[in-house]
Amino acid sequence: MLGLTTSLVLIASMLELSVHAATVLHQHQKRAQCAATLTIAENVASTLQAHYYNTGTGMYNGGSLWTDANALEDLHNLMLGADVDTWSTVADGSYIGKSALSSSTDWASLLGGANDDAGWVVMALWKMADYKSARGLSNTAYLNAAATIYNLIAGQWDDTCGGGVWWNTAHTYKNAITNQLFLYVSADGYLRGGGQTYLDNANKAWNWLSASGMRNSQGLWNDGLTDTCVNNGQTTWTYNQGVIASGLAALYAATQDTTLLDQAEITLDATISLLTDDDILKESCDDALSGGSVCDVNQQLFKGLWTKHVQYYLDMANDSTRTAKYSPFLGSQTSAVFHYGTDANNDVGSVWYAPNQGGSIFTPKTSTSGLEAHVAAAKYGPC
Ligand SMILES: *[C@@H]1O[C@H](CO)[C@@H](O)[C@H](O)[C@H]1NC(C)=O
Repeated sequence: MLGLTTSLVLIASMLELSVHAATVLHQHQKRAQCAATLTIAENVASTLQAHYYNTGTGMYNGGSLWTDANALEDLHNLMLGADVDTWSTVADGSYIGKSALSSSTDWASLLGGANDDAGWVVMALWKMADYKSARGLSNTAYLNAAATIYNLIAGQWDDTCGGGVWWNTAHTYKNAITNQLFLYVSADGYLRGGGQTYLDNANKAWNWLSASGMRNSQGLWNDGLTDTCVNNGQTTWTYNQGVIASGLAALYAATQDTTLLDQAEITLDATISLLTDDDILKESCDDALSGGSVCDVNQQLFKGLWTKHVQYYLDMANDSTRTAKYSPFLGSQTSAVFHYGTDANNDVGSVWYAPNQGGSIFTPKTSTSGLEAHVAAAKYGPC
């Protein structure tokens, strides 16, 4: 048995190590940004807030909890990137921020059983916390709320289909996005000093995902599993192809296992070759022509999420060769969003791959999605 002093020294040095890892990682996410792209992003963000944000409720008109969470995350991601404070009051006034600041919030009930929404809310709370920390403000309530929600998600893991967290607390479906988000928040939570349980969960999540059969022979992730635990063959949404990459890169940052980055790029490269039209992301529900298919209230945000999670992928990979590989594609997306997707008011519509011929729709989700493409490209695209 170790002496008390030795143990204390050991514990202290372990603490220092994990604090160091977190600090280094969240510092190196800083990077010179493209000013022109940032200006475009700020214009889109201003319109998003002016057209859709309700300061009374702290929600977006026509939004939903998980899409609002992403919009909040993006505003703070942008403020950190551009080094501005334009939306500094939004966090504490938002429904999610107010819920974090209130000690009486019942997160399980607020989340309504949606374990995927819970993952998005954790990410939003962390980004708002990063912003507060960068400005010397207390972020304790945000971090505590994120930890509470994380534990709710982690408690939704069981042995059905050999593992995985359920999509919903009703336990009807095991799917890709919920577990990809669990991988990300577990690995990033570890890097933020959450401790060994987070790393164990990240490894557990990836081991299960990689054996689940949800990634098809093309390298793309389908939506989820059937009742008999095989790939259900449902749509390969763009966001699934991005969130897996950021999660794997966060796990790489925690473990230094570069094969995780190679796994991520199988899927990123498949996205670029298979889920695009002339090098621009195209969701299967996108149609520039009127009268065709239209993405639903959730699907409207997916493409931007892919770009945001490529940003996070590159943050965590911290590798100039990998950055150079994806930079031109991020540049093409911001350009398409600007030239094809954006109307005269700086609202961004659902369709990026072609000029709008009546089929593009304009909602807070589609503007948020466009904002994400700009913010990612400001950091990693060409300038
Ligand atoms: C990122 O890469 C640079 C250059 O290779 C290196 O100096 C730095 O320590 C890396 N940061 C982290 C957090 O690994």
